[in-house]
Parts: sequence; C-alpha cells; structure tokens
Amino acid sequence: MALTGKRILIIIGGGIAAYKVLDLIRRLRERGASLRIVMTAAAKEFVTPLSVASLAGGKVFDDLFSLTDETEIGHIQLSRDADLLVVAPATADLLAKMAQGLANELASTLLLATDKKILVAPSMNLRMWLHPATRRNMAVLHRDGVLVVGPDEGDMACGEYGPGRMSEPPAILAAIEAALQGETRIALPLRSRSQETDGPLAGRRVVVTSGPTHEPLDPVRYIANRSSGKQGHALAAAAAAAGAEVVLISGPVTLPDPVGIATKHVETAAEMAAAVEAALPADIFIAAAAVADWRAAEAAPDKIKKSTDGAPVLQLVENPDILATVAQHSEKRPRIVVGFAAETTDVLAHAKAKLARKGCDVIVANDVSSAADVMGGDENQVTIVTKAGVEALPRLHKYAVAERLVARFAAMFKAMLKDGSDA
Ligand code: CTP
Repeated sequence: MALTGKRILIIIGGGIAAYKVLDLIRRLRERGASLRIVMTAAAKEFVTPLSVASLAGGKVFDDLFSLTDETEIGHIQLSRDADLLVVAPATADLLAKMAQGLANELASTLLLATDKKILVAPSMNLRMWLHPATRRNMAVLHRDGVLVVGPDEGDMACGEYGPGRMSEPPAILAAIEAALQGETRIALPLRSRSQETDGPLAGRRVVVTSGPTHEPLDPVRYIANRSSGKQGHALAAAAAAAGAEVVLISGPVTLPDPVGIATKHVETAAEMAAAVEAALPADIFIAAAAVADWRAAEAAPDKIKKSTDGAPVLQLVENPDILATVAQHSEKRPRIVVGFAAETTDVLAHAKAKLARKGCDVIVANDVSSAADVMGGDENQVTIVTKAGVEALPRLHKYAVAERLVARFAAMFKAMLKDGSDA
C-alpha cells in the first residue's frame, strides 16, 4: 500500500528493539510516508538521534521544553499534525505512562495531547510483559482504543524465551497500513471505541474459537495439530476493536490472552463445544479453531506401555462438529456463522463444499500447505467464500487479515439487519 501523503509520528522508546525501528523508518519512507520522529531520553542510549534523523530525513524531536521547537512547532501541533502515532518500541514504562495519562516529558505529553489513533508495538522482557501491572495497563489501553501490534514470542536479548519481542518491521508496517484505513481521528471527548457507543460492531456479541484442540490418548500423550491460534486471537482482538463484546474460546496456545477480552481456556473438542454452547446466544460466531476431527474412543487411564506384541492400535471416534452444530442450531443460531477451511489442495472447491455441507454463511479459506507457510506464521492469505461469491484478500499480516475480515462481517451484519425486521 502506498503511504504517500500520510503523516506518521513515530515515538521511539528506550529498548533494545529501537534498532529495528530504523528498518521500519526506511520501509515507511520507501512507501512515501512523511515522518516526524520523537525519541525518549532512554531511546538515545540505544540508537543515536543522528542515525535516526538521517534515515527519517528530518530532525528528531526530544525535548518538551525546547524553545526552538515550541516556536517552530508546538507540542500540541506536533501530536495533531500526524495521521497516526506509532510507539515502537513501546516499553513497559511508556505503556504505564499512557495508561495513567502521565505527561512529564515530550513522548508522554504528545500521547496524551493527541486526537489521533495510537498504535503501540510493545517490547520488553517476558516477565515484564506478563506482570499483572502490564496486564492491567494493556487492558486500560485497549479500552482507550489504543491499537496494539505484537509482541511476538521468541528469544530475547536478555537470554530468556517467551512473549515480549517487538514485532518485526513488516508486521508493524502492516498494522500501520491497517490503522490508516478509515477514520484516523478519534472523536473527543470520548477517545475510546467503547462497546456501547462506537464501532461497527458496537453492542454486538461475537464468539470466536481459536487454536488447536488436544485429544488425550493417555495421561501423557495427545493428538494435536500445528495451529498457533494467531489468526483466531487476532480476529477476537479485531472484533473487540470494532466495538463488539467478545468471548474467545481458546484451545492450548502459547499466546497471551488478548487484553480486555474474556478468554475461556479449553483443551479438547468436547470442552470447546460445551464452552461455545454456553457462550451463545451471539450475533456472530467465528470458528477459527483447528478442532481435532477425531479423539481416542477411550483415553487410557494409565500411560500406555510398550509391549512385545507390537505397536498399539488406536481406536478413534469422530468429535462433535462445533461449526456445523452452531450453524444448524435450532434456537440460538447466530446471524452470521463463519468457518475456516484449512486446505492443502483444491482450496476453493473444498471451501465451497464446506460452506454448503456445514450450513454456515462464510468460509474463510486458506492454503496451509507447507509452501504457504501459514500454520504458526505471522502472515496469511485468505479467500472469503460466501453464497454470493468469492473474494481473495492479499497476503497480509494476520492482524491486518483479521481487521479486514471483521469489517466484512460487520458490513454483512448491517446488510442483514436492513433486509430483516429485527435488530
Ligand atoms: N470445525 C469445528 N468442529 C470440528 C471440526 C471443525 O468447529 N469438530 C470447524 C473449524 O473451526 C473450521 C471448520 O470447521 O472453521 C473447518 O474445519 P475442517 O476440519 O477443515 O473441516 P472438515 O469438515 O473436518 O473437513 P475436512 O476434514 O474434509 O477438511
């Protein structure tokens, strides 16, 4: 997407990931974005203002009390001139300041003074990310309508492994592109896209399943699949950002619960089916989970031991089809029922057949052959299949895919309300 004419204010926080922002700046400039850069005092310990300024093609702002800056451009104007504010890396400290509304230096003052959308790319040690204080702050920021990309899970500069790594520049770029679509100004005095007041899914209830299921064979072994839950969790977050009340029902994943979303954790398909039933009624149901099709007819109560008679024979039975059950629900069928079709061959033909067989309104088809690198990856290329037709989306970050899908579902929902009589 070309970003010509888009004005982005980048606030660089003081974290080791600051060096990655240099690459982000390069990519944004290649796309024609016009950038203004603010660095916190700590950020300057990681990258120099000179290297940032040379890449960004302009001066770096760093001082709230600089008279020159205030005469050339005041801090209020600096925060309002932009179409979008991006905080990367968003340190625990900056996020805490944002959640509290502190304004004791330039970066936090701009974040408090702005009337535009803010996108944060958190980056910190996993203990800091998982700390209840950061969880609380993220929940507050989510309610305030702040957009979040990442963090990723992986090796950290401090030698630990877990969630907290800042997203890679292409993912932040995709989130910026998604954030710049549509209205970027946040109406005052209500900055938040609160459930009751704003957003295309305001006042609607959305139930999302995500992740794999684990079907036990014995107390230590189970049948599983490669689903990471990234797309399902992103859908839950996008639906919440669109104003919906979201219930996320997640199989075993290593992702943190999306901030501010009621998340129910389950292990097996049967547990997931029960949790979905309990979460109904809903306006929209999105079955993004990769539910195991089969489970052991009887899970062994004790660990299955090796024997000289050869390998054990597994007796499998079919799991309940949650999507088909919801789509054919006699009392509580949601107005829109969305299924996913993860295929490795003949993607479209299988998706169309699945739409009819399961009785849902939409099938989101994706190619999960190993060449497509979708399972566990950060990007996805999906095709939306409805009775009305087929629409392929470009390959995008899963976050951007989620935003586009939710926008589509919201539009379908609105059209259905127009056609129908009840709201
Ligand atoms: N699904 C479900 N419950 C199941 C199996 C699948 O809700 N027990 C949902 C998934 O969440 C997904 C969709 O159904 O939205 C497609 O799942 P898939 O396993 O691909 O469909 P199947 O009918 O099993 O088709 P096939 O195995 O032939 O691909």
